[in-house]
Amino acid sequence: MARTLSSETVGKVGESVTLQGWVHVRRDMGKIIFVHLRDRTGQVQVVFVPGECPDYELAKTLRDEFVVEITGVVADRGKKNVNEKMVTGTVEIQARTLKILNEAQTPPFPLDDTKDVSEERRLTYRYLDLRSERMQKNIRLRHNVIAYMRSWLDKQGFIEVETPYVTKGTPEGAREFIIPSRLHAGEFYVLPQSPQQFKQLLMVGGIERYFQIARCFRDEDQRGDRQAEFTQLDLEMSFVTQEDVLQLNEQLFTELVASVVPEMKLSTTPFSRLTYAEALKQYGTDKPDLRKDKNDPNELAFAWVVDFPMFEKGSDGSIQAVHHPFCMIHPDDTDKLESDPLSVRAASYDLVLNGYEISSGSIRIHQAKLQEKIFQILGLSPELIEAKFGHMLRAFSYGAPPHGGMAPGIDRFIMILANEPNIREVIAFPKTGDGRDLMMGAPSELPPNALRDAHIQLRVKKE
Ligand code: AMO
Repeated sequence: MARTLSSETVGKVGESVTLQGWVHVRRDMGKIIFVHLRDRTGQVQVVFVPGECPDYELAKTLRDEFVVEITGVVADRGKKNVNEKMVTGTVEIQARTLKILNEAQTPPFPLDDTKDVSEERRLTYRYLDLRSERMQKNIRLRHNVIAYMRSWLDKQGFIEVETPYVTKGTPEGAREFIIPSRLHAGEFYVLPQSPQQFKQLLMVGGIERYFQIARCFRDEDQRGDRQAEFTQLDLEMSFVTQEDVLQLNEQLFTELVASVVPEMKLSTTPFSRLTYAEALKQYGTDKPDLRKDKNDPNELAFAWVVDFPMFEKGSDGSIQAVHHPFCMIHPDDTDKLESDPLSVRAASYDLVLNGYEISSGSIRIHQAKLQEKIFQILGLSPELIEAKFGHMLRAFSYGAPPHGGMAPGIDRFIMILANEPNIREVIAFPKTGDGRDLMMGAPSELPPNALRDAHIQLRVKKE
């Protein structure tokens, strides 16, 4: 049996086909039973007529979301009966046999319109929510974007390298998820906030052009455009200037939009460019929304914001890195590093889209001496520098090439392309605002022996 997909039926008038999928709706019209059969490509109407289909009585037992296999003949509906709302609206399937592959309980919410269903309910039953047209569209768009990025970068000589998820911290400024080591009592791994250090070490390793669809983990409060677990297109290049990185990314995003979402239009070509100081002065924000018509769902206004400050004062008065401590100093500001660090700019840049920061990056420091100096300015003692970053300084002392890169946030980018109000709508299994996975029931308690193995003694006991 070769399966025919619902979308393929239009070209098969007169042929006998076998379809498999879900009962989207069933309607009894007098004696005739209509079923909309749904699969990954859409829906097609199936008609059960007594006398024509030996399984007619079985068809009466069908309910929404039953999983079925139907054989039948594809028939032209005739001009009068065309359903303009369906892609397959010119045909219908005259059913001959029906097999029920699995029954289904009545879903807890209607799957064809989830607009008014609470998010809690949708996330508790995410596997059902994913069947909705909205989620099918978003998840497929996500795949198309990622597939395009992979193949585009491959053609440009980039290779994808996986870096560890169980590792030591990286200083992006957010809280880290910690993992106790079973084999080394009292010691911990952390989940990386980004592959920042590894991608730089790959440059030292001679990879020259690296990318990764990388999961990042940040144990911070969540918002509409923030999840504790999210995905970056992480990339890094050796022997490049800031201009090279900007040009390459501008080309990638321009060609990606034209190919993956051709209905969308860029309103800033080339992308607008502003310095951080100009952005603050003109727009009062470092992520200005430069769209001409904010009500146009197809307008995309990209902008580069460059020359961010290298350092800022933390609430406790200490000097902190604005982006991260690996950013190269702006070439015009090197002589101010000692005397006036807070006025020093970094060779760093953000990519902004429709008022969201979708990416940031920089040219990196590749000399051990300068890197050590930055750590000192950040107030790190020699012991702390060695403990936290000794491996980076050692690596830089073995012929590290000049390098730079950036890391677009994939969830945010797809949220904007999909015109969705938050990134949870473009992630298959997101967490709620308070960090819960309502479907799996995470986080959850662990049995005492699991805690013992991980050398954990709880201070707080749950009632
Ligand atoms: P940064 O921390 O700016 O840079 O992150 C880069 C991009 O990742 C996305 N992003 C997020 N998306 C969803 N949820 C979050 N919690 C979240 N945090 C960040 C944003 C952001 O622009 N290693 C550096 C990049 C580099 O220098 O190459 C980094 O991670 O779209």
